[in-house]
Amino acid sequence: MTQPYVIDEMISAKTIAARIEELAGEIRTRFADSDKLVVVGLLRGSFVFIADLVRELDMNVEVDFLEASSYGNEMESSREVRILKDIRGEIQGRDVLVVEDIVDTGHTLAHVLKILNARAPRKLETIALLDKPSRREADIRATWTGFEIPDEFVVGYGIDYAQRNRNLPYIGCVRFTNDT
Ligand code: IMP
Repeated sequence: MTQPYVIDEMISAKTIAARIEELAGEIRTRFADSDKLVVVGLLRGSFVFIADLVRELDMNVEVDFLEASSYGNEMESSREVRILKDIRGEIQGRDVLVVEDIVDTGHTLAHVLKILNARAPRKLETIALLDKPSRREADIRATWTGFEIPDEFVVGYGIDYAQRNRNLPYIGCVRFTNDT
């Protein structure tokens, strides 16, 4: 059950698109010598971001997905991260870009990177659309970040609250309406 809430726009679709164009330029430069970049989206929150990002990349990419357990239907992060669905491809000796929606405590990204690093990729970089630095517990930072945001619960552009609002074209902030 979710409490009643409204959503205030925080980052517009236009601002997100402009930032992705910028980031894609930096990624292309970093991986300029790559034969084929493996872009790994972390399900489910990164599905909109990865779709827009790869279309700006203008280079050879292979798209793969990995699902790690995190919030479930709640707003609480869990420190114990489990892999629910692994990538399909081999990454040994390959160039890999991990795409995350939000780095919050950082436990999810830290765990995923540990697992992927153990498979000996040639390069392993990360991009997160959003970063909440004030919430960090694990010592981790994405190579590229779209936007740093305050400690607010956000939805839209692939990101959910209890499986709702993933299809909003912008990032919005959840405000509970029965707050006293
Ligand atoms: P971390 O392991 O605490 O960094 O959690 C990262 C994951 O928690 C993200 O990939 C999201 O799925 C989820 N998450 C963190 N903050 C929010 C939020 O504000 N709204 C929705 N999901 C969030």
